[in-house]
Amino acid sequence: MSDIKMVIKHSLSTRQSISPPEPYYNPHVEALPKYNSGLSLAAARAASGLTQIARLASNENPHGCSPGVMQAIDAVELWRYSDPGCELLRATLATKLGVDPAQIVIGNGSEEMIAAASRGFLTAGSHALTVTPSFGLHEIEPLAVGARVTKVPMTADLEFDVPALELALAQHPQVFFLPSPSNPVGPALDTRELARVIGAVSGATLFVLDEAYREFTSEAIPDGLEMLRESALSYVVLRTFSKAFGLAGLRVGYAVCSSPRIAKMLTAAKTPFNVNALAQAAAVAALQDEPWMEAAVTRIRDERERVSQSLRQMGLRVARSEGNFLFVDVARPSTEVATQLLKAGVIVKPWLEPNYQSFIRVSIGSSAENDQFIEALRRILQPGF
Ligand SMILES: Cc1ncc(COP(=O)(O)O)c(C=O)c1O
Repeated sequence: MSDIKMVIKHSLSTRQSISPPEPYYNPHVEALPKYNSGLSLAAARAASGLTQIARLASNENPHGCSPGVMQAIDAVELWRYSDPGCELLRATLATKLGVDPAQIVIGNGSEEMIAAASRGFLTAGSHALTVTPSFGLHEIEPLAVGARVTKVPMTADLEFDVPALELALAQHPQVFFLPSPSNPVGPALDTRELARVIGAVSGATLFVLDEAYREFTSEAIPDGLEMLRESALSYVVLRTFSKAFGLAGLRVGYAVCSSPRIAKMLTAAKTPFNVNALAQAAAVAALQDEPWMEAAVTRIRDERERVSQSLRQMGLRVARSEGNFLFVDVARPSTEVATQLLKAGVIVKPWLEPNYQSFIRVSIGSSAENDQFIEALRRILQPGF
């Protein structure tokens, strides 16, 4: 072997034995808890061997979306970039809500606005407050920027613990993420409770009120945006087209901010073309057909009552729900029950947070899907199954 070949051979073999230098891994991101997302249709089919799957893990709308949406997306020119300012959608929402368009930021799902609020208003060492059981991203996004997260548990009877929230708010967290209705539990704050919470938030805290399930609530539940507008607080109200409007797959939600300055921060913290053209056109069309959404919501609320009654008749504890889902104590490890349900072609979300691992969260689907769930659960919970 020539000298040069020997040198190359030697350098290759030493290179193989030394492991390459590692890049810098952001420790905050590397340590993040995993988001507990619902199983895909393909995975459920593979696990159950069935084709008829009831997808009840992601709080989607089983009735689809308005026919007007399908027409609107047909006219979109896919070869053009989307409008980075989402001007038409923001103007439409501003008129509907009676706010300045400069207060609105559109997100790639409202989840993007949770990330933007975390990037914009938290940093390493900041303090964020939320509740437990929680919507995973209210914890994950603050942790991703190095913030510390305090979680106030719901009460033993699965309601918001307003006195405990008042105490925690007295610590002046930089950001307070509150989902009302609560995901995964279901209750929403009534007017008196929300007034108490608003009264406990200090001027130094940004109050992020997440109303992803607002359209499913009963008459008695206040409009959080209306109440916050009467306060002197800094706030962001989050809403989405994923649930009642049936556009989960398109990814579009929004933030209504107390000031254009807060909206500017959220805008700076997102990517420029974050909302695609189909999503923008679909959301505008969905807002033009609210009767379609209201009819779907009525059907879902009726089914929610029917399913919760059936579950209670089976002796199960079911939390009060103002959303399109139920939080159910199955009195045994939730992962075992979810695995058995999967074999019967039903996807639900087993809850994994400490103290709630005997709960599953089940979305309200079509009547047929709900029947499939109830019958399967009845069988699974029989003694000796
Ligand atoms: C409370 C809450 N907030 C926000 C989201 C995010 O919704 P999207 O990003 O689809 O708008 C969800 C989704 O399940 C949710 O439950």
